[in-house]
Amino acid sequence: MKDKMIVIMAVLAAIIATACNEKTSSLQEAEIILEKRMDSLLSVMTLEEKIGQMSQVNLESGITEALLESIRKGEIGSLLNAGDAINRKQLQQVAMKESRLGIPLIFGRDVIHGYRTVFPIPLAQSCSWNTSLVEKAAAIAAYEAASDGIHWTFSPMLDIARDPRWGRIAEGNGEDSYLGSQLAIAMVKGYQGDDLSDPASLAACAKHFAGYGAAEGGRDYNTTLIPETELRNVYLPPFHAAVKANIATVMSAFNDLNGTPATANEFLLKKILRTEWGFRGFVVSDWTSVTEMINHGYAAGEKDAALKAVQAGVDMEMVSRSFTHYLKELVQSGTVDEKLIDDAVRNILSIKFRKGLFDNPYPQAPDEITFLRPENLEVAKELAIQSTVLLKNDNSVLPLRENIQSLAVIGPLADAPLEQLGMWTPDGRVEDAITPLAAIRKKIGKDRVIYVPALETGRSTDKSQFARAVAAARNASACVVFLGEEQILSGEAHSRAFLNLPGAQEELITELARTGKPIVLVIMAGRPLIFSRISGKVQAILYAWHGGTMAGPALTDLLFGIVSPSGKLSVSFPRAEGQIPLYYNHRNTGRPPQPENQGIPAGTPLDPVNFTSNYLDLDYTPEYPFGYGLSYTTFDYSPVTLSSPEITAGDTLIVRTSLSNKGKYNGTEIVQIYIRDMVGSITRPVKELKGFQRINLKPGESREVTFKLTATDLSFYRKDLTFGTETGEFMVWVGKSSADHDLKGISFSLSE
Ligand code: GLC
Repeated sequence: MKDKMIVIMAVLAAIIATACNEKTSSLQEAEIILEKRMDSLLSVMTLEEKIGQMSQVNLESGITEALLESIRKGEIGSLLNAGDAINRKQLQQVAMKESRLGIPLIFGRDVIHGYRTVFPIPLAQSCSWNTSLVEKAAAIAAYEAASDGIHWTFSPMLDIARDPRWGRIAEGNGEDSYLGSQLAIAMVKGYQGDDLSDPASLAACAKHFAGYGAAEGGRDYNTTLIPETELRNVYLPPFHAAVKANIATVMSAFNDLNGTPATANEFLLKKILRTEWGFRGFVVSDWTSVTEMINHGYAAGEKDAALKAVQAGVDMEMVSRSFTHYLKELVQSGTVDEKLIDDAVRNILSIKFRKGLFDNPYPQAPDEITFLRPENLEVAKELAIQSTVLLKNDNSVLPLRENIQSLAVIGPLADAPLEQLGMWTPDGRVEDAITPLAAIRKKIGKDRVIYVPALETGRSTDKSQFARAVAAARNASACVVFLGEEQILSGEAHSRAFLNLPGAQEELITELARTGKPIVLVIMAGRPLIFSRISGKVQAILYAWHGGTMAGPALTDLLFGIVSPSGKLSVSFPRAEGQIPLYYNHRNTGRPPQPENQGIPAGTPLDPVNFTSNYLDLDYTPEYPFGYGLSYTTFDYSPVTLSSPEITAGDTLIVRTSLSNKGKYNGTEIVQIYIRDMVGSITRPVKELKGFQRINLKPGESREVTFKLTATDLSFYRKDLTFGTETGEFMVWVGKSSADHDLKGISFSLSE
């Protein structure tokens, strides 16, 4: 009790001293008081208590007396997966009332795409290109999780991914740094709000720092080899955007980056994160990534792992206990300076203070209905609608008529609530999910729906129900087939070498196509899949990803034309696994493939027809390109005009086009702007996304769309690793996807 009084008196003294100096602004005053509160607390902490703050444990097997005793001794600073709100309150009471200094615990959780209200998986959300809607979804996730006693989410995942074999592509924002950066900002603002101490906010976590998505072979946790220019120009920008948005924490990644594990990578954790970016929050390791450095062959043992992680800049160790076991010895032997420990603890305490945990350690009593509020379910539905991408719609078979006589609803994912929730949904509930079957029956009446799953699950190979499915298709006016990947086939540690539709799903399409009935295919998946063998057998394809709690109502509104699809791919779809890695912002090479090579393989292995960068046995272009997505209406673009054909680094270039809705449906077009730096000190991408706008037009309506490009948009990390522009010729394009045939362009030059 005496110690707590010391802390209180010291804090009061700090407040008085600060209040006396009327020159400080209220913000500065708050900062000064926070710093003084931390200094006061740090000054009375023992080395064991400091190390305790640096340790996060997972509540494996419920609350034990040993765990409570460890909290009483100040040996634990954070828990993840700590049961429910009642468990968390009990644990917090022990920390606040029964430990010597009463430092609150911070509770972490993977709130990745919603809490009880589950939103589409992040890769799906990134196809909405709607930063304000993504921000709103993150804010709802924060509101629900915080009301349940969670303080901190291990989200957003900001790993750029160019390899759909990698299961965690599902968790990120796709292949592009600009889009990924805009979405990073939106998610940080959504989770953290304007004031981290708001009880309805969550401290966010930028992960996995860094380069984790470049895992060789698309195999999770695998080696990454990324040149520094590529790291800075492609993989780091979303993390930098999150830091500039004041994200509270960063998580070090599992992978070794160019031979140094990210969890002991001083270049990443100190030079980039602290020195260059001025990050002020704390760094948490990934799950046992500290002691996994022994497996990496980078640490000789647990003590060595603890030393290398703490010296590189890891502040808190997740789940493994090397800090608890060895940091005291390392400090007392003089190997580790206690100042290093103080810095780590200060980083952690600063977030606990900013989160308001000292003043408000217990969750607010949730409102009478906190979870699944109707207005929040509407946001989930809208985001699922805007995340869905229309890949094909021959003869405008979509939208279906609402007065359709009968509809065959077929496939293992038509009524699969767990699957539609997607990966990383520990707090989502199957019973909350509204499936496409349920929503369609509600829309047109159960008696007009003929439902045949045809396969028990997405991986089934038992075709005994195919005849029933074929009969249903024959007897119905139209046929909607729901196929794809179950949620367990994507996410962490779920990489796939083959990206086909699992099980007998392709054969099912082949059988149904024989009926001659128009088939609408809805694919629900956690990654781009390869289905070119059957895409020609169906008339329309909607890529719905794993759309969350409201996937059913969203798809029903799209199928019946209540709203037109507007999603655009945030990741390239390969024609075959052999093309991977495949991404739109590639370099040109010295022998770029020629347009005449498109659409056909370049001859045969025995008769190569040219010497350019393509394949002898496959079209080198993607099946569906980055930025691609159709609408029920059609949009036309006028030629692009510029405010000037030449600019200097201090100018702003105005880029204009006129967009027209030439179809008969209301629709939203995501207008994209790309540039190409024609000559650089390093080879430059053939295209780079530099902006986008969501434009909604009624049939017949037109609107001028304007973009502004500045020197920052034209800057990159150059050969000498400085960031800036290089004079010379540029191309700029505006259009509906990254494909050449979807863009209208014009050149301009940048001069001194
Ligand atoms: C996992 C993941 C990380 C997650 C953490 C806590 O292994 O890599 O993304 O936040 O552990 O569950």
